Order: sequence, then structure tokens, then C-alpha cells
Amino acid sequence: MNESGADIDDLLGRMTLAEKIGQLNLLPAGEGLVTGAGGGSRLAERIDTACIGGVFGTKSRASARSMQQRALEASRLNIPLLFAEDVIHGHRTVFPLPIALACSWDMELVEETAAFAAGEAAALGIHQAYAPMIDVARDPRWGRVAESPGEDPTLAARYAAAMTRGLQGDDPSAPGRVAACLKHFVAYGAPESGRDYDNASMALEDLFGAHLPPFEAGVRAGALSVMVAFNAVAKLPMHAHEPLIEGWLRGRIGFDGLVVSDYTGIKELTAHGLGRPETVVARALHAGVDMDMVGEDYLEHLPALAEGGIDDAESGTRFGASEIRKLVDRACRRVLTFKARLGLFDDPFRGMPEGSEPDVAPTAEGRALARRAAVRSAVLLKNEGVLPLGPDRRRIALIGPFADDRINMLGTWAVCGQADDVVSLRNVLSDRPGIELRCAEGCNVVEEPWLADRLNVFGPIVRLDPRPEEETIAEAVACARDADMVVLALGEAKEHAGESSSRLAPELPAPQRRLLEAVARTGTKLVVVIFAGRPLALGPVTAAADALLLAWHGGIEGPRAIVDLLFGDAAPSGRLAATLPAHPGQTPVFHAIEPTGRPSGGGFEKFRTGWLDLDDAATVFPFGFGLGYSAVRYGAPVADRLEARGEEESIEVGVDLTNEGDRSTIETVQLYLSDPVARVTRPVRELKDFRRITLQPGETGHVRFTVTAAMQRYPLAPSLEEAAFVRDPGRIIVHIGPNSRDTQALELTWHG
Ligand code: BGC
Repeated sequence: MNESGADIDDLLGRMTLAEKIGQLNLLPAGEGLVTGAGGGSRLAERIDTACIGGVFGTKSRASARSMQQRALEASRLNIPLLFAEDVIHGHRTVFPLPIALACSWDMELVEETAAFAAGEAAALGIHQAYAPMIDVARDPRWGRVAESPGEDPTLAARYAAAMTRGLQGDDPSAPGRVAACLKHFVAYGAPESGRDYDNASMALEDLFGAHLPPFEAGVRAGALSVMVAFNAVAKLPMHAHEPLIEGWLRGRIGFDGLVVSDYTGIKELTAHGLGRPETVVARALHAGVDMDMVGEDYLEHLPALAEGGIDDAESGTRFGASEIRKLVDRACRRVLTFKARLGLFDDPFRGMPEGSEPDVAPTAEGRALARRAAVRSAVLLKNEGVLPLGPDRRRIALIGPFADDRINMLGTWAVCGQADDVVSLRNVLSDRPGIELRCAEGCNVVEEPWLADRLNVFGPIVRLDPRPEEETIAEAVACARDADMVVLALGEAKEHAGESSSRLAPELPAPQRRLLEAVARTGTKLVVVIFAGRPLALGPVTAAADALLLAWHGGIEGPRAIVDLLFGDAAPSGRLAATLPAHPGQTPVFHAIEPTGRPSGGGFEKFRTGWLDLDDAATVFPFGFGLGYSAVRYGAPVADRLEARGEEESIEVGVDLTNEGDRSTIETVQLYLSDPVARVTRPVRELKDFRRITLQPGETGHVRFTVTAAMQRYPLAPSLEEAAFVRDPGRIIVHIGPNSRDTQALELTWHG
């Protein structure tokens, strides 16, 4: 018996081989049950022959209900379908991108947005969200940075747990909750040269130290499912990675939920070079991939494999028929257990009662949450005394290709998002009393027609103005000259970042750089707002702007949140979840780098680790960085003692903070550790903990951290199987500060 009372052993015992294999098949809803003109779709055929376990991408309760009804009628044993969907950053109520939400460093907020999205998805009959995406991403060229919680494993692990709690609550089968699906397992965020889908080659220590910890945190938070990544890790494609799926995830971490493939990921093992279709099916099933998304390779090849086994000398794959049958049973049991955990045997129509469609339009409550989330996610990077805008800045020139944009505010992977739910920056500003607003687009988002076509692949999101650029820029310049203040809305379109949207150079597209230069030359005070899905190199923008706000793609309330921040109705509190490079060629880029024998400033002025042609003065915005509207003074960090011993002891370190400004502010205090001497080279510093504290004007607060032995452990991995976390006695340096660069240090000693 399992948690829901369904007797899985009994059910499995009564199922035929074909029924079991059917459960392993997962298809997209596509056009639904019928393709029109009376023809049955592939999906309908699979449902009618009980050859399917789940469907993803349903967009209405009625379609989910009709599929469920038909599936139950077709299934001899009344096994319900499972409905999944990509619920990445909100559902119909679109919240800021994950990379933006991570910049809030506010895990309660992350949890709240996930819980809200779960409620919206569950109301459409969805049982499983393909989220959270928890790939640690350190290369801003990679487009899926947008969906990730950024570069740091500690922040990503907290985010993984918060999202999982938000989606699942205490009981994923309760109304308004859905199962989480941790993805993409694993190291999908570290593709070669930042090219999506490319393979990850890394030291196993990096795998254990940076990429696996968010998955462990998600599993510990109770996530019921995991999705496997498209890429290969250490030469073995993840869909065949038995040592990581069955070995690490299930064996070492104790995950006992469902593992799904990514979209046609099993089939793609053949293109990876692992062999014939039937060979790769056997390998994926053996590796622990329970459900086959879209490819139908399990459906096609498992019946014959279960009869005759496989002996493929070319790829070294050999499984007997009985072994395959056992593996089918194993996968099917996991699918059924997953369904039982979601209460689907008790109530197959969960979340899809008969009757009218729910009204899914964003509610006032959802909008308020989305606005708060967008306020907290935006990162103020520079402010030379212009923000918040004072009463002397009334004549505002709003310029740029995103000034009057709605659809791009949604960001990538907003599968239910609607442009109509967004109010553009122009509309929000023009609704604000006492402002004289003039507007100009100034330039196109990109200049290359072929690139515009690629960006428009899912529908029109960028439009190329056929007028010569000199004309549009001249219009913008005239508009800027005539104003007290320019707000320049620049950045990336929503599909600039996202799946298969890697960019050669993470920077503003060329037309926007030209616009910036021309507008900056007018000398009118300049506030630049950047909409983006990845960390961009913002050197020239920083130099030209009086104030610079990184707003990411902020969701349906993004523009309202920006105006709240510009006018000081809210104060900025976001902190970078990923380093912004000084130059687009400076990739990968992240704070937890390792020391080398030839550091900069180490006495070898030319022979040092770095780039010959990168100016030392070029601006890097470090991980953890972000400004507020109040200056916060940090006192010297203090420890309750300077020495400790063994696994159980700990040291309390703390710091006083004083809000020296005249506004309430939220400060994110960050704790980093470094281990100056170890058995192997260790990162110069690693984030271990953080606390957010609200300080009223003039208030002094105190933040305390507990430094533990566990925080000092690091991986040594001669092989996957032998990987272990170790700790050495000796010095530990604690760094406390407002970001990963501007910290104060304290030396501790751990004896043994
Ligand atoms: C993506 C996944 C997503 C799946 C289903 C794939 O292309 O990599 O993240 O969940 O499609 O939409």
C-alpha cells in the first residue's frame, strides 16, 4: 500500500506488459484529442488504446477533463492520466523570470509566487509542474540563465527548496498544489561555450560542489519528481547516466520519486552516438528514466526488448529479456506511485470539476504579489543622486524599443502569459499625475532581419521599423533634449534568452548601443532601465547612465514595479544572483573562482591570470551586488570565539548595521567562507549563508550567522562512486558584507 491507499503491488500484478509500457509514455496535449475534420490525433489514439501515462501542456480544464474521462474508459484497470505543464515563473499571472526572483534573495517571496502559480495551474487540472529549474548557470551566453536561480549553489539550493515547498505545500495531493519536478538533472547549466544542449566537461569536484547541491536540497524538501537534462556529463549523456540517476540521485540521496525524460531526450541518445533506437531505450530505462516524454521510443521498442532482450556489441549494451521486464516493472511502479502520491487514484478528476472553465484572468491579489515580486527582483546598479525622481523631474522623455512594450515583459517560458495582462512602461508613466511625457522608440531591438525572424519564432515580439536609424535616433535625441530627464528602456526581447537562445556576446544589441550613445550626448540626466533574460556586460551603459536599473523581464506587473522604484514609492532591494561581466567576452564569470599561481597583483604584472585587453578599471558588478536608496554602514564583524574543534562545535559571528539614510531599507547581509589551505585548490570564497534585514532610518540592527563544521566541507572525487566531502583542520576566513566583493574578514581556527 502507498500513502494514498492505492495498492500498487496489486495493480502492477494485474497489468499486462503492454499496459505497463503504456504508463511510461508521456505526450504533449498539442491540439487535444481530435485534429479536426473528424480525424483522431495521435494523442487520442494513445488514450483510446491505454498506451499513455501522462499528458503535458493542457491549457483548459475542459480538455483535461475530457482526456481523463476517455482515458479512464479506455483503461481496463481505471488508471488515470497525469497532467503536467511548464509552470516556470507563474502561470497566467506571470511573475519575474527565475533569475530575477533569485535576485530578491527572498525565499518566502519565491515560495509565495510558486504557491500562487500552483493554485492557478491546479485549477486547470494540472498535477505536476516542470519546475523548479535549478541549473547553476555561470555562463551568461547560455540562454536558459533566464530560467535559473543564477551562479551560486547555496542560493540555488535555497531557491530549490523554496520553490518545492511553494508548489507542493505540505501535501502535494491537496487542492491548489502540484508536484514539483526538479530540472534539469544535471549540469545542464554548464554547456561547452554556453551553447544550449552542449555537453558539460568539468572536474567531478565541480559537479559535487556546484551542480548537485540544488538537487539534493530539492529532494530533501520533498520534490516528487526530477527531469533529466539533454546534455552529456563527463562524456555520458544524462538520459543514459545510470551512475548519476540510479547511483547518486536514488542511491546516495535517497530520492524515491519519478524521473522523466526531457522532450525526446531518449531518442536523442542515438544522435549522441550511443547506438540504435532499441539500444538507447534499454540504456535509458536501465539508467532510471521512468517516463519517455514525446519520443514514444519506449512504446515502440520495449515490447520487443521485453521479449528478446538486447545484445548490441557495437555499443557494449547487453540486457536479457527478464532484466528488461524487471526494469519495466520498476519504472511502471514509480509512475503509479507518483500518481498515487498525487491522490489521482482517489480522485482522477482532481482540479477539474464538471462545469464552466475557471476565470483565470489575473486577480488583484495575484497582481499585488507580482508587483511586489518585480519590485524585489530589480537590481539598482548605479545611482548618481538622480533616483528616486524628485518633483523637479516632471518633463520625462521615455525612449527605447521597450518603452511601450508589453509582450517582452513576460519573459521566456510564460506558456499561459498574455501580453494583454501587461501595462507598458509608457502607459504606467502616462497615468501618473503631474508628468509631462514624451516618447520615442529610438531604434529597433535588433538590426538583422534574420535574427528578428528567429526571435519571432513563437509569434511576433520584435518589429523592425523600416525607417533609417539616423531618423529614429534623431527623433529620440530631440525628445531627450526637450526633457528634464530621460528614461531609456533598453535590453533583450523575451526570446533573446531561453531555450536554444544562446548568444555569442551577452551585451546590448548594436542599435541600442548607438541609441544610448546619441541620447547620452544630449547631456540630459539619464536613467537606463534594462530588460533582460541574462546577465549582460553593461560597461558602456554604466559609463553613460546617471542611474542604472536592471529590471530583467519582470512579468505582468514589471513596468508598474519600475515606476514604483523610479519615484521612490518602493525602494530597490535586489542583489545580483549572477555576476555581470565587464566585457561580453569575459565568460564564464562567477565569484567562486579558484586561485591560480599567477593572480593579478601578484607581482607578475603581465604574466597573470586574466585578459590582456580587459582594462582593470572596467566595471564588473559582483555577485550579490545591489544598491538601495539608503546607505547602510557595516560595523566590524565579531565572533563569540575564534577557535573551535570537531564536527559539533560552531562559532557565532555577527555584524552591526546602521541605516544612515532617511528611508526604510532592506539589506541582504552575506556570509562567505574561504579555506586558505586545503588538499586541493578551493574557491577564493563561497557563499554559505545570508540574511535579509529591514532597517528604519537611523536604526542599527544586528545580524548573526552560525559558522559550522559542515559549511567547511568540500568534495574530493576520484570517481563518481568514491566522491566524498572532507574537511581539513586549520584556518578558515569568514567574509561578511553586502556583496561578494566588498566584505570584511575575520580569521577563525578549527582544530581537527
Ligand atoms: C525543456 C524542458 C521542458 C520541456 C517540456 C524541453 O524542451 O528543456 O525544460 O520542461 O521541453 O516543455
